[in-house]
Amino acid sequence: MNKFNVKILGTGSYVPEKVLTNSDLEKMVDTSDQWITERTGIKERRIIDKSQNLSDLAFEASKKALEKAKMQANQIDVIIVATVSGEMPLPATACTLQKKLGINAVAFDISAACSGFMYGLSVAKSFIESGTYKTVLLVGGEVLTRITDWTDRNTCVLFGDGAGAMVLQASETEKDVLSVHLGADGNYTNLLNIPAGGTAMPTTHETVDNKLQFIKMAGKEVFKIAVVKMAEAAQKALELAGKKDEDIALYIPHQANLRIIEAVGKRLGVDKGKVYVNVHKYGNMSSATTIIALDEAISSGAAKKGDIITVMAFGGGLTWGAAVLKI
Ligand code: ACO
Repeated sequence: MNKFNVKILGTGSYVPEKVLTNSDLEKMVDTSDQWITERTGIKERRIIDKSQNLSDLAFEASKKALEKAKMQANQIDVIIVATVSGEMPLPATACTLQKKLGINAVAFDISAACSGFMYGLSVAKSFIESGTYKTVLLVGGEVLTRITDWTDRNTCVLFGDGAGAMVLQASETEKDVLSVHLGADGNYTNLLNIPAGGTAMPTTHETVDNKLQFIKMAGKEVFKIAVVKMAEAAQKALELAGKKDEDIALYIPHQANLRIIEAVGKRLGVDKGKVYVNVHKYGNMSSATTIIALDEAISSGAAKKGDIITVMAFGGGLTWGAAVLKI
């Protein structure tokens, strides 16, 4: 029996100002606006400024989430940053964010690729429901453009930078996080990875010459599994929450590719108008994607107070996850 329920107090997001369009990319690699638009739905993405780092994006998103929550930073007990593009392998970016917020909260990162925010949500939920911690700041943030090979047209057209944040708190009366379902399959670690820079292949001149510090992806294979697993995750999260499609006002899938988003919607048999899309503006921002889309859906009125929504993600690992939330 859970001691507490989880209430969502506020969300916030931040994307860097610099926009890189498909026509900008046409000048960098052998690609075209037509190919990118038809195969991915992406029109532009945001690129972090040289003067900024991940914790700066996370800080801006967190400030906005705290403002919406009408809370001071020092009320936070735990900071979780979901990311695969942390500022350094050590320490966690969450510690740098903690310093920027000027607080004493417990701080750590979670690595589950594009499913990172879903994994973070599950951890935050467990902390709160068990009574371990009362208030959690959960951030999904990425600077993927610094781990992208800008000469590889297979990947460089896909990614962007950004951060989103959510403040969650224990409540004895209100319940906003209705369910979270997670999954992973380590048999597919080869489909999506950064080969060098870890302890399996430490950085050397040779790894740098071979560009092994950048994201490598077998896109077609990832695509097929993404559709099946995201749809399955959404169904499991709905089951756990005791909800049906007619209860759901909006579906927010991970925004990696418009064709994946449409295929997931079709597989779930949901009305196209109930599937949120912003991939055209930002591309794939991994862990940051679902929380930025959720924050944008709330700010724009696409998700209204009291709505029940389903959020789902899929990424490297392979990992996947879905959550049913009351907004
Ligand atoms: N411009 C022009 N042509 C290109 C480009 C480009 N930018 N990129 C690839 N091509 C070419 C390929 O070379 C290939 O040419 P060939 O047939 O002569 O070999 C052709 O286009 C088709 O390539 P495919 O890989 O079959 O293209 P596909 O339709 O599968 O689209 C894509 C590729 C967009 C990568 C898609 O597979 C996809 O979105 N996959 C899933 C990505 C994803 O969801 N990742 C998970 C999250 S990421 C994370 O966790 C960090």
